[in-house]
Amino acid sequence: MTRETKKQGKKKNLPLGKVYQLLEPGPVVLLTTEDEKHPDVMAMSWHMMMEFEPPLIACIVSNRDHTYGLLKKHKECVINIPTAEIAKQVVGCGNTTGRRVDKFRKFGLTPLPAEKVGAPLVAECYAAIECRVADARWSEKYCLFVLEGVKAWIDPAVKDPRTLHHRGNGRFMVSGESIRLRSRMK
Ligand SMILES: Cc1cc2nc3c(=O)[nH]c(=O)nc-3n(C[C@H](O)[C@H](O)[C@H](O)COP(=O)(O)O)c2cc1C
Repeated sequence: MTRETKKQGKKKNLPLGKVYQLLEPGPVVLLTTEDEKHPDVMAMSWHMMMEFEPPLIACIVSNRDHTYGLLKKHKECVINIPTAEIAKQVVGCGNTTGRRVDKFRKFGLTPLPAEKVGAPLVAECYAAIECRVADARWSEKYCLFVLEGVKAWIDPAVKDPRTLHHRGNGRFMVSGESIRLRSRMK
């Protein structure tokens, strides 16, 4: 055992390039945007809550993604939350680009009209948050957009959604049961 491994107990070095695999919060979402030809949909797992109400959500959309340009142009999108039942379609949406493909058609997803934004809801997802871009000041430097949720939808029949949580390299954790600890929290 080297000095380093003794000092840190059972823990070994983790390359910095793998840090995201520890902190990536999930759930993986399907981010939809509007376009003249057809709406686009991409997988996204780099997002973070910033405020309760109105909900503010920070997210990273790479400037290599078709979605980036659509988000800059229309300043609206929908965060759709899928479950493990459509995991293959989610991964498909994360590995193809709307520049060349109508992903709704290719992956058998159904667009439904949103109430407040031009981007569609995904019928196969159990929840959706219609969003407007509240702040894009860091979109050039970090590809970071702050979104404000302006309308939200949920399927009340889905009690313990089996959401997908990306662990890197095509591995996902699936969430399961809920536990209630309210009485123990301050
Ligand atoms: C599980 C998963 C999570 C992803 N998370 C993100 C993300 O948070 N931000 C991002 O820019 N791209 C993310 N991607 C990659 C995009 O979904 C991918 O580049 C997609 O092809 C972009 O589609 P578009 O060109 O139609 O916008 C993810 C892909 C997968 C499979």
